[in-house]
Amino acid sequence: MSASSAALRFPKDFHWGYATASAQVEGSIDQDGRAPSIWDTFSRLPNKTLDGTDTTVTTDTYVQWRGDIELMKSYGVNSHRLSLSWSRIIPLGGKDDPVNQAGIDWYREYLKALVDAGIVSHLTLFHWDLPQALEDRYKGFLSRDIVADFERYARVCFESFGDLVRDWFTINEPNVFSMMGYLFGSHAPGRTSNREKSAEGDSQREPFLVGHNLLLCHASAVKSYREEFKQKQGGQIGLVVNMLWGEPLDDSAENLTAADEFMAQSSGWFIEPVVFGDYPPSSRKIFEGHLPKFSAEDSALVKGSCDFLGINHYSTFYIKRRTTPAEPGVPWTILHPAVELGIHDKHGNEIGPVGGVNFVRIVPWGFGKLLDWTWKKYQLPIYITENGAVCPNENDIPFPDVLDDHFRIEYLTKYADQVAMAIQRGVPVKSHLMWALTDNFEWQEGHTARFGVTYIDYEDDCKRYPKKSAAVMKEYYRSRIE
Ligand code: NOJ
Repeated sequence: MSASSAALRFPKDFHWGYATASAQVEGSIDQDGRAPSIWDTFSRLPNKTLDGTDTTVTTDTYVQWRGDIELMKSYGVNSHRLSLSWSRIIPLGGKDDPVNQAGIDWYREYLKALVDAGIVSHLTLFHWDLPQALEDRYKGFLSRDIVADFERYARVCFESFGDLVRDWFTINEPNVFSMMGYLFGSHAPGRTSNREKSAEGDSQREPFLVGHNLLLCHASAVKSYREEFKQKQGGQIGLVVNMLWGEPLDDSAENLTAADEFMAQSSGWFIEPVVFGDYPPSSRKIFEGHLPKFSAEDSALVKGSCDFLGINHYSTFYIKRRTTPAEPGVPWTILHPAVELGIHDKHGNEIGPVGGVNFVRIVPWGFGKLLDWTWKKYQLPIYITENGAVCPNENDIPFPDVLDDHFRIEYLTKYADQVAMAIQRGVPVKSHLMWALTDNFEWQEGHTARFGVTYIDYEDDCKRYPKKSAAVMKEYYRSRIE
């Protein structure tokens, strides 16, 4: 931490803490009436996760949640981000399917205990764990039937938890869900044109169709919140988008427009519709024929459907215009046919130290630029809903050495500094929720990518051990919040 870091300040009402998501932590997937989700199914198929782990136990939070609230208290946080498992609340998912009171009771107890602990909940409705029954019924998000089902699920949640929650997040990272689940096929439901991976799927078309239906789900839930709940519950609601920062490799016109295009395709894909009512003009051109069109009515529904923007941010890349034709069939280039991502600047220097997963490098200045750019372009208050890192080789470092997570400490403190500096420049950043409270089930990486500020001993009933970063961030925020 630099000397200037100590002088940085956050406003009194700033929210900070750690995030989790239902499928990644809860486990107990057949307890108290919960039905399977697409991640239960997918993670059990052979070779879908790196270490063969699945969603059955994860961090056992369904059982150990009280201890986690005690942990959070000891970490000094004032906020926590968590998500609801749709198939715990409406096991079969659909608008006419029965509600599972036991699921609602469990979440109410958890949320109430957070209120009692003085910890504000940031609640996500959908963090990728679709009820399997809806995948079976009509292929999930490929069908527009999902919209009415999601809207009813959201309404059940507003009714059931609205007295305990003020900050609602509809959908987590629709861009990553569409891309990983329907283009690469490496996340549930695992669809892709690559027939070695999946018998079904169309990587050119399905991600865009799914994205469109996700936007309609989000907007319908927001409409019902605003019409039926907002006034009496006094909360707010928005979407969470994964945002990388794409730094132009140099200031040539071609690389500047390439970086703009990268931002449009990677996150503008979802943000522009909710702010302006349509997809980015450059995407319309590039994905002509694949990108669904908004009817006038749908555009009006989607436009303006966020009270704030939730941002999950992990890292920055250099962007340049692609000069050689994209190789056919390479999944990434379907989404980015005309740009290239790099990790070296024009002099060949690496952009920043790499962590234990290749999409995380320490590039704090990129985060600062992203915050300024996002505010200028979209003019919405910003909630940082995720931000975090895995230390190099973290999963191979023996216990207890693994608790000394200096790479994460450097990452988190430098990124938090960027938040404070952005606030000073007038960017309305309201929260810094870090990923994650504990190590957890990291999707296709299984348990191998440890993002937590708390170590989980998976061999010993998921026992929790605070890493050093938890104490450092406690002191960081204690000394800087007004
Ligand atoms: C974003 C996702 O929302 C979360 O589920 C995931 O674990 C983190 N990124 C880290 O990859």
